[in-house]
Amino acid sequence: MAAAQRDISVSEFFAKNRHLLGFDNPRKALLTTVKEAVDNALDACEEAGILPEVWVHIQRNGQDSNRFKVGVQDNGPGILKKQIPLIFGKLLYGSKFHRLRMSRGQQGIGISAAGMYGLLTTGKPVKITSKVSQRTPAHYYEIQIDTKRNRPEIVNGRGEGMEIPPGERGRETIEEQGIEWIEADHGTRVTIELEARYQRGRGSVDDYLAQTALANPHVAIHYEDPDGSRKDYPRVADTLPAEPKEIKPHPYGVELGMLVGMLKNTKAPTVVQFLTKSFSRVSPAVARRICENAGISTRANTTRIGRHEADLLYQAIQQTKIKAPATDCISPIGEELILKGLHQVVPGEFYAAATRPPAVYRGNPFQIEVGLAYGGGSTAHQVSREALLQLLGESDARTLRQFLCTTFDGLGPDAADKILQEAGLKTRISPGKLKRAHVDRLHDAMRNVNLHDGQSMTLLRYANRVPLQFQAGGCAITQTVMATNWRPYGLSQSRGQLPRGPVTVMVHIGSVWVPFTSESKEAIASYPEIQKELRLALQAVGRKLGMYLRRRGRVKHEGERRNAFLRYLGEVATAVSAISRVDRDRLYNQLIEVARRRTLEADKEIDELGRFVEDDPPDFGENVLILAPPEAIEAGTPRPPPQGEEQQRLF
Ligand SMILES: Nc1ncnc2c1ncn2[C@@H]1O[C@H](COP(=O)(O)OP(=O)(O)OP(=O)(O)O)[C@@H](O)[C@H]1O
Ligand SMILES: [Mg+2]
Repeated sequence: MAAAQRDISVSEFFAKNRHLLGFDNPRKALLTTVKEAVDNALDACEEAGILPEVWVHIQRNGQDSNRFKVGVQDNGPGILKKQIPLIFGKLLYGSKFHRLRMSRGQQGIGISAAGMYGLLTTGKPVKITSKVSQRTPAHYYEIQIDTKRNRPEIVNGRGEGMEIPPGERGRETIEEQGIEWIEADHGTRVTIELEARYQRGRGSVDDYLAQTALANPHVAIHYEDPDGSRKDYPRVADTLPAEPKEIKPHPYGVELGMLVGMLKNTKAPTVVQFLTKSFSRVSPAVARRICENAGISTRANTTRIGRHEADLLYQAIQQTKIKAPATDCISPIGEELILKGLHQVVPGEFYAAATRPPAVYRGNPFQIEVGLAYGGGSTAHQVSREALLQLLGESDARTLRQFLCTTFDGLGPDAADKILQEAGLKTRISPGKLKRAHVDRLHDAMRNVNLHDGQSMTLLRYANRVPLQFQAGGCAITQTVMATNWRPYGLSQSRGQLPRGPVTVMVHIGSVWVPFTSESKEAIASYPEIQKELRLALQAVGRKLGMYLRRRGRVKHEGERRNAFLRYLGEVATAVSAISRVDRDRLYNQLIEVARRRTLEADKEIDELGRFVEDDPPDFGENVLILAPPEAIEAGTPRPPPQGEEQQRLF
């Protein structure tokens, strides 16, 4: 027994527990790999003040193969030669863990874990090319991780890597060696070969990139999928988000163990200096007050502080009034850009956005933003026949019903049943076995069935601008959306469920330390402070939606009443004039006038802020975008959609 005890390296641990890092099945492995590389690329560009441009190439290794090659290149600052092996060949190595600053990565595991997964499944090393400036050489490395020791091994150039000289000679080298690199002055390209599965639909790479573009309007993405189709997400905003500031931890967020550790490692000679240097919002006066409350001398030497004194200090911190942390360390997307992004990607008629003021959980500042789009169809309405054929072929769902629910956003079991009924297909058929004629019927039904009632809310979750695609049920965002009562805002909802209707809601949490429930960074932990802010932001957009839907409902209702009047008034006028010999046309006009007065609401025009033109305008507040609902056009109040802006669809 005693002889069997030995160290476990962190890479051995995660190689066994790869599901903790998001590599639990081949489909997710592909997404996680792309995601880790793209997140790093965006972080690096933003930190260097460069507007990000990212190329994502996924290639299949041979037909029908389950081996893929993922290449991601950025126009970022590049990586210093000596750092490259450690970044890509050592788990828990990074620049972001030890600081409190809003960024996509935080743990120092992401990209090396993707490389390790690739190595374990295909035996191929990670390939990295990185260049820091036009005039200096680029570096090309092939690296594999030694899992037993959690150390990088350089495979090429006799363990030294390779230098690519600048200029023409470099181009020749790149050609000769078959190195993948898009000519650029600076940037990084990482290529990983891995066992994976490519499948479109919800939770796919395509979805992730579309959602990334939505929340990052300053990013340009060029994507080539395994079938060779290209898709570009152009840049919508030409300025970088405000640079988030790095902050020190707030004393209220520190735990006793951490405080003891900090005291041990500090170079500050006195306790007061230690407190002011290590924490934010602790001025010398506040530090002295903490010492007084703890009964410790302000000049006490930090080396003399034992376990007992540390405990006293910890308690004194809780008792002392300290200003809340500065919140300018978070850079939100902003209501205007959320509206713009949503409008680009989600078709609809009404859009609203709300950004809450920053708040604090466990001493860490965070900020919640919510955007809402109403109207437009489910993605099921927009899918082309060819795309549907492909989706059916790629799906691993056992039944057609399951296929519909898992592939299309906002399509619940009720809506799936409606579609299958309309198409005259059985729910249990396997998607792969569908005949051509059946596919046509299914496609027609998907376009024709009114899905508004059966549709459930599409929820897009984001943390520090990264879309979260898994573990929706375990995430504080989903839970709070479900716990919010949407009925007062005009949506139907069963208790504890997502509301129904053609609604898309995006929720963004920005924080210097996002509290994820696991290392794979898929769901947010349920801190009460976070839930409260989520609730308030959701209610803010919900109220605006409710206001809009009530107005719209009234206009529609009165329009229908008037149409009913008009249908009969002609006949009534003819009959009455025959009986009482009054002039038919005069009577008809009088009746019409009465009908018009009685249904006045239907005549009201809605302006672009959703206000009735001649009415007391309701106050939607700021950051609402309203396009013409289809009913308003029928009721005679047309409003053209904005010109020259084509909406990008998720499919
Ligand atoms: N494309 C890149 N350009 C420049 N630097 C990079 C790039 N990719 C990674 N890095 C550097 O390598 C470090 C490690 O990256 P890695 O993805 O492993 O961890 P992380 O991003 O810090 O955290 P997380 O595990 O949460 O992703 C980063 O902190 C960053 O400093
Ligand atoms: Mg990372």
